[in-house]
Amino acid sequence: MTNSPIGSTLNRVDGPDKVTGAARYAGDESPTGLVHGHLVLATIGNGTIRSMDTGAARDHTGVLEIYTPDNPLPLHGVPPGVAFYFSETRRPLSDHEVRYHGQIVGLVIAETPEQARDAAALITVDYERRPANASFRDNVDDAVVPEPTPLPMGLPITILADGVPSIDAALAASPVTVTATYTHPARHHNALEPHAAVATWDGDRLTIHSTTQAPAAHAIELAQAFAVPADHVHVVNPHVGGGFGGKAFTWGPTYLAAAAARRLGRPVKVVPTREQLHTTTGHRSAAHQTVTLGSSADGTLNAIRHLSVTQAIGEDPGTRLTMKAYATENLHVSLRVTTGLNVPTTTILRAPGEETGSFAIECAMDELAIELGLDPIELRTRNHLTHTLSPDPATRLPYSNKHLIECYRLGARRFGWDTRNPAPRSTLATGGWLVGTGMAGAVLNASRAFTAVRVSFRPDGTAAVATSTADLGTGMRTVLAIMGTDSLGIPVDRIRPLIGDSRLPVGPDAVYGAQGSAATATVAPVVRDAAADAVEELINHAVTEPRSPLHGRDGVRYTAGDLTDGATTIGFGDLLTTTGGTDVGATTTSGPVTPPSYAFASHAAHFCEVRVHRLTGEIRVSRMTTVVDAGTIVNEKTARNQIVGGVVWGIGPALFESAHVEPDTGRIANANFADYLVPVNADVPDVDVVFLDHPDTNFSPLGARGLGELGTVGSAAAVANAVHHATGIRVRDLPITPEKLLTTPTGQA
Ligand code: MOS
Repeated sequence: MTNSPIGSTLNRVDGPDKVTGAARYAGDESPTGLVHGHLVLATIGNGTIRSMDTGAARDHTGVLEIYTPDNPLPLHGVPPGVAFYFSETRRPLSDHEVRYHGQIVGLVIAETPEQARDAAALITVDYERRPANASFRDNVDDAVVPEPTPLPMGLPITILADGVPSIDAALAASPVTVTATYTHPARHHNALEPHAAVATWDGDRLTIHSTTQAPAAHAIELAQAFAVPADHVHVVNPHVGGGFGGKAFTWGPTYLAAAAARRLGRPVKVVPTREQLHTTTGHRSAAHQTVTLGSSADGTLNAIRHLSVTQAIGEDPGTRLTMKAYATENLHVSLRVTTGLNVPTTTILRAPGEETGSFAIECAMDELAIELGLDPIELRTRNHLTHTLSPDPATRLPYSNKHLIECYRLGARRFGWDTRNPAPRSTLATGGWLVGTGMAGAVLNASRAFTAVRVSFRPDGTAAVATSTADLGTGMRTVLAIMGTDSLGIPVDRIRPLIGDSRLPVGPDAVYGAQGSAATATVAPVVRDAAADAVEELINHAVTEPRSPLHGRDGVRYTAGDLTDGATTIGFGDLLTTTGGTDVGATTTSGPVTPPSYAFASHAAHFCEVRVHRLTGEIRVSRMTTVVDAGTIVNEKTARNQIVGGVVWGIGPALFESAHVEPDTGRIANANFADYLVPVNADVPDVDVVFLDHPDTNFSPLGARGLGELGTVGSAAAVANAVHHATGIRVRDLPITPEKLLTTPTGQA
């Protein structure tokens, strides 16, 4: 196809709807008869509910019903499965135990949201209190190896060269070692759109407008909770205002909205407040990682040991990242998890494992480079990994298409790395600003999931490209438009992307959702296959429909929206108008996944310049450059947006983000946008993003690997390394705040 739009810089096709307010989000729905739910949350961190006084709330104007553990809503249990590791397994209101501050203990239903909220404030709870165990740090030493799991994560893995008795021996035999502990606080997704749900039942059929990354999986989870067939649940989510992993699984407020609607026989809307979202939906676990690198004097990594502790197995920095980062003969990674913490449930959050793990590994590499007196790029280049690390050499796979060294080199050139004075605290600019630069590498596993895509032709001259995935702001709708144009040869404005509906052909969200940076990589190649099948159906329609001007003709072919046999040519819109065809096309699936003979991952290199005020410790990120190796880029504009967003998601944990958890109650003291700091525009410089162009055709015929979360991997480390270079101060406990810079001696932890 000439003039393919692949790699173009197409504006979001949903942009005009979003900026004019025409785009409808779940919470915008207000069906006839709608009533509103407001959550009541526990105000202790551990204990038992003795009684709840709901009398005053029941008497409040407009109140219809109040659900509590004494008047619960029926929900079937959570079946074992993948969600078990990432989601809450205890149904809301199912018992009188309070396991964490902010746990749901009630739902007030009223005619208006204000009435429900005001009535909720009148409810009092009598608790039998127990001391809360809410400090992650205090529990790190007691963390345990997680139970064996069906997932390839969390298990200790040791790889040793022939004759090396242990990882300790390998480290002891290394002429140079660095060891350090890096810590992350718990963090929150804080998607701008809250987890809104509007549920309507018709008999045993549920229609739910619900913000989710995975409409098909969401329907399955809800169907399980209500013991109805999955196709009785219709999830609608045409637009999603950010997910970041926080909307990959179904959370308590959504189950309660659906359960209350069923019980009351009226549509129910539940929209948790910003504060309530922090505890009633999942968040990122805190992490404690100790990395030890053993190297020869020339910078060859002889041994890597990466010990991680998190609150849950879903966050697995060791195995997810370190197995793919650098070449070494001797490797040990392990994860331990804390148990019995009185804190809300954790889940996946943007680049789960990889973001956290990369901070530790990429900072440790910087520390080793300084110890060796070697340039950080040179150290990384010397330890370039060309194949996967696995305990059994027979199962090691070569990387299909890895251009990380080119990322380093191109990034260094664009950023001006070569003029860098490697000595820390060597540049003082006017006004008292210490200037420093740092870099880090990034790796993100690339995968493709199962998907079905339908491409069909319509009498109005448009073609639909349909699959049940969500667009969280990633640009999926625009990717479908581009792939439709690429495959059918008609302009983008004649492609109608259809997503965000569980009744569409099941997209890459049947199990996990639009996540893992795999949606575009999964769907885009299948659009081409579905388009080819749809064209075949269209030609068949043209030659078999009695009213078609091409009826009975031979050699009919399709070109750029027209059908022709050489003598007669007709556009597909006119054809279908003539024949009465409404939706002629094909649904095509991705087919079985054959075991690969290559490993697939996207890579990147980040470069960062910071300015740190020598007196106040104020930190300003002044420049960033990121070079990305992700194969074919489908839409340069939305891809760039994803990488810039990912880099901002690295500046967040580096400098700002932290849940302040009160150790004795587990209360999150900053569960609001005033006190939970995230980078705003003033904190983010122009981010220079470059894409290499090396299609990975072993991965898919299109050659496009995922990239959404890649910007988040390593970017916090690049910032931290730049802060060290500027100040000579190594802060390993995130976020790096002015207070920490002012109280940490130069050169110290
Ligand atoms: Mo992302 S944490 O894979 O939604």
